[in-house]
Amino acid sequence: MNKKDIINFRQQGCLETILKRRSIRNFKEKDVPEDLVEIILETGRQAPSAGNRQPCRFIVVRERDTINKITDTTYPGTARDSDKHQDWIRTAPLLIVICTDNRNTVARYGQMGKKASLLDTGAVVENMLLAVVSLSLASCWIGGFRESELKQVLEIPDDIKVTSFLPIGYSDENPEPRGRKDMNELLFYEKYGQKQ
Ligand SMILES: Cc1cc2nc3c(=O)[nH]c(=O)nc-3n(C[C@H](O)[C@H](O)[C@H](O)COP(=O)(O)O)c2cc1C
Repeated sequence: MNKKDIINFRQQGCLETILKRRSIRNFKEKDVPEDLVEIILETGRQAPSAGNRQPCRFIVVRERDTINKITDTTYPGTARDSDKHQDWIRTAPLLIVICTDNRNTVARYGQMGKKASLLDTGAVVENMLLAVVSLSLASCWIGGFRESELKQVLEIPDDIKVTSFLPIGYSDENPEPRGRKDMNELLFYEKYGQKQ
């Protein structure tokens, strides 16, 4: 990690980073240094998890051929069986695939452990997305892929789940913030549905 990155990482406030994050779907042809990847992975490792079971495993993919094969498992929008793919992912110099091994969580919490380990995975992914922004990199949470096909590409065992991967690179676009619902629509007081 170079000095500028260390300074950025330490000084950028968490709130600023949250507000700055956007899904980026176009990357420059520029490699991501390994030490920055290590920081992103470390923020995934530091995420909270139910019972501290830490169910997530990470696969860093840099090989072009593998990135292309993974992109071939993706689909646009909700068209799961489409033969179209999210082709912009091919512009990423690297992917981090987040796997969930829920066995320890299920051993502790029973069937509830399945849900808990998926929530754990969301916390890992968001930590990583925020780290990406802190490091002046860019990403987009990808859930639109056929899991069984992706697992084949990466030789992931049957009992491991994959819900998400992150293409990571330097942004080649600068999108406006995507809209959010008005807080008024989201917020209740004391009881569900109750306005102040
Ligand atoms: C679980 C999950 C899955 C997603 N899957 C995809 C995806 O497959 N492809 C994609 O382009 N964006 C995907 N997104 C990104 C959302 O489209 C994006 O977060 C949303 O439109 C808001 O935009 P913003 O991230 O720029 O704020 C996903 C987000 C989440 C949380």
